[in-house]
Amino acid sequence: MRYVLPLVLLLLAPTALLAQEEVGVGGGEDINIPVSPGLEQNTPGSLVELYEPYDDQVVGRVTIPDDKLGVLVQPEGRTWRAFRIQGLYYTAMTVILLTIALLGGFYLWRGTIKLESGRSGRWVPRFGSIERFAHWTTAISFLTLALTGLTVTFGRYLLIPILGHYTYTPLATAAKSLHNWSAIPFVIGLVLMLAVWIKDNIPSRADWLWIKKAGGMFERTGSFHPETARFNAGQKIIFWSVILGGTTLAISGYFLMAPFYFTGVSGMQIGHVIHSLSAVVMIAVILCHIYIGTLGMEGAFDAIGRGKVDENWAIEHHHGWYKAQVENGSTPVEQGTPPATDGANPT
Ligand code: HEM
Repeated sequence: MRYVLPLVLLLLAPTALLAQEEVGVGGGEDINIPVSPGLEQNTPGSLVELYEPYDDQVVGRVTIPDDKLGVLVQPEGRTWRAFRIQGLYYTAMTVILLTIALLGGFYLWRGTIKLESGRSGRWVPRFGSIERFAHWTTAISFLTLALTGLTVTFGRYLLIPILGHYTYTPLATAAKSLHNWSAIPFVIGLVLMLAVWIKDNIPSRADWLWIKKAGGMFERTGSFHPETARFNAGQKIIFWSVILGGTTLAISGYFLMAPFYFTGVSGMQIGHVIHSLSAVVMIAVILCHIYIGTLGMEGAFDAIGRGKVDENWAIEHHHGWYKAQVENGSTPVEQGTPPATDGANPT
């Protein structure tokens, strides 16, 4: 019996050597692995033949069907991990806080942009139900996606220290799941918005004048009202940012949802960097959009909230559009009482 084990080992030795050659362990080029200081005498020589450098990665060979498992060490993975854990956290935090601070500063300096001639009490229809449905589907799913995404980004350094692991774990799991599901209405809203608004968002010559004067937003007197069509250049910029940024987020997001289906490890890392940085930019853009649609401008929220705007708002902010509507008779002006809210100027 005591001779059995040595005998088996002796019989298996050639097979092991063969297998070693087949999977390439020891078959690759020699690499000079640095020996940890102090351990020199314990390390029998610094040349090991376990790894084979290839395209910036250290790969071995595997005989299982999943080739990517042969990547033993991926140097750029460290760069990505540093970005994921710290770079993204600080970038997102800085961009979001800076945007809020700038908007706050702008509000203190400029205040709410009032209607110069006050509210007329007559309403002009602005957005139909499909348009408002498209807007709110995109808006609600965007906010859900942003909040659930940031729950993941801000987990380690912000939320776990505040909430603790026991609360954060189910929160992160729910956020992840909600993030995936909200992707569906987001894309539906995006496609609908593109379909209903693209015709009003084609850039025109008049946009240039608006851009040169930044829409009069930096003139505290408020007397600059360029003749604009249904959407001004600022709104067109928001529209195209949402369409292009939203498409980038959707494509990179679905890419992340199907790990390794389209690409390998490096591709997944690039996809994640594109997704998370576009998210940060889009969150900043949407914060500005929310500001101007609520606190920043009197009467603006009515357009997308009620689907109609005060006649004076239409005249002051979109005169070209208002004139065209009245001329072709498609603007049934409706009488009503001006709302007393949102800092209205009832003169
Ligand atoms: C169709 C739309 C979208 C899809 C399919 C999608 C999908 C994904 C997926 C699969 C992840 C990885 C989650 C994980 O770590 O396991 C992710 C992360 C993330 N997403 Fe989205 N997403 C979409 C839209 C958005 C939007 C609109 C925003 C924000 C405005 C956003 C912000 C984020 C953020 C901040 C992260 C976390 C990045 C990180 O910290 O690693 N996503 N998304």
